[in-house]
Amino acid sequence: MMNRTLTCSPTQTQNVYQIEISDSIFNQSHSLCHFLKGLAPHFAIVTDTGVAPLYGNRLQELLIQFGLTSYLFAFPDGEASKTRHTKECLEDQLLDKKMGRDTCIIALGGGVVTDLAGYLASTYCRGVSLVMIPTTLLGMVDASIGGKNGVNTPHGKNLIGSTYQPKKVWIDPSFLKTLPKEHIKNGVVEMIKHGLIADSLYFELLEKGVADIEVLNNDFLEKVIFDSCSIKSGIVARDPFEKGERHLLNFGHTIGHALEKLSFYALSHGEAVAIGMMVEGYIAVDRGDLKPEVLERIFKVLKSYQLPMKLPRLFTPEEMLQAMIYDKKSMKGLPRFVILKDIGQSGVFDGNFCTSVDERSIINAVNRMNHDLCCH
Ligand SMILES: NC(=O)c1ccc[n+]([C@@H]2O[C@H](COP(=O)([O-])OP(=O)(O)OC[C@H]3O[C@@H](n4cnc5c(N)ncnc54)[C@H](O)[C@@H]3O)[C@@H](O)[C@H]2O)c1
Repeated sequence: MMNRTLTCSPTQTQNVYQIEISDSIFNQSHSLCHFLKGLAPHFAIVTDTGVAPLYGNRLQELLIQFGLTSYLFAFPDGEASKTRHTKECLEDQLLDKKMGRDTCIIALGGGVVTDLAGYLASTYCRGVSLVMIPTTLLGMVDASIGGKNGVNTPHGKNLIGSTYQPKKVWIDPSFLKTLPKEHIKNGVVEMIKHGLIADSLYFELLEKGVADIEVLNNDFLEKVIFDSCSIKSGIVARDPFEKGERHLLNFGHTIGHALEKLSFYALSHGEAVAIGMMVEGYIAVDRGDLKPEVLERIFKVLKSYQLPMKLPRLFTPEEMLQAMIYDKKSMKGLPRFVILKDIGQSGVFDGNFCTSVDERSIINAVNRMNHDLCCH
């Protein structure tokens, strides 16, 4: 077992921090607590009701044993909690405990927790220290990296939030032993996305790694989590404020977010983005940018990780276009898409790394999605 460390330094921001990947945080409690002690005297561990009994109480006990004041705040688990209301409840709970500017918020959980707690940290007392300890694969390879956080509204996902970098991200793959398999798949989708937009060798590794992920081979997990974090943090460092290259990280999400919203979250984030990558691939094929056989290869790898690749119902092009209005890449109410050119290679489009496409091409892609992926 080895510790792997990445240093992240988003340009134009003052914040340089480390992502540390090491097995069993609880066996390295001394270095964890020592680091935390240097940040603040008071700790608010923010987690959800799924993670609190597994790891939250244990982390709180550890901090208390080390002489650090800590409180545990757990909100009901699930995407439905990622709201302004939950953030407000947490703020009131922290204020009731008289937690002030010298508080450090520890986000312990999946992407819902890290998004919510990150947003909370960025505004609580006008900004307090933040440490991320992701416990899902998606949290490890994606949500905890890059400083983006936020909450959902009835108008769409992640519409309210901020960009706020943590002081450190601790990644412990052993947390994945208790994570249900369907949530492992959500993380794998984002890892496949990282290979598709930036690194064909990494994609090949994932093509060959189905069995390693299935048995949670620790060495393999450490390697692929590290590679995914490197790809994402590299993109974020070059484009911290999402002006260009960072749009690549949105591949599959323009369609994916619309599907999540229109299915009332019956499709998980990973399932929706997996389908979204295929549909955005149809658009690239339609434009003549991507070879159909490359798209076949992408479909094959997604299926090999047992992603269902099935729609819960048919979606009309009109409702899909309507649902994409609030996509953050939209301009003048029209969606823009990342255009894949090959495995590991995407269109640059004058440094925007996404482009608007003919409405007909979107309609064709949605119709093809309904034809190829509908459950009936
Ligand atoms: N900020 C970003 O850059 C970014 C990137 C990707 C996704 N996201 C966001 O991440 C969210 C999805 O995150 P997620 O997929 O991690 O889901 P999640 O946070 O809802 O966690 C899934 C479930 O797993 C449980 N859980 C977490 N860790 C566990 C463990 N180790 N063992 C057992 N159960 C555990 C949780 O209690 C929850 O019920 C979405 O809201 C998405 O928008 C953000």
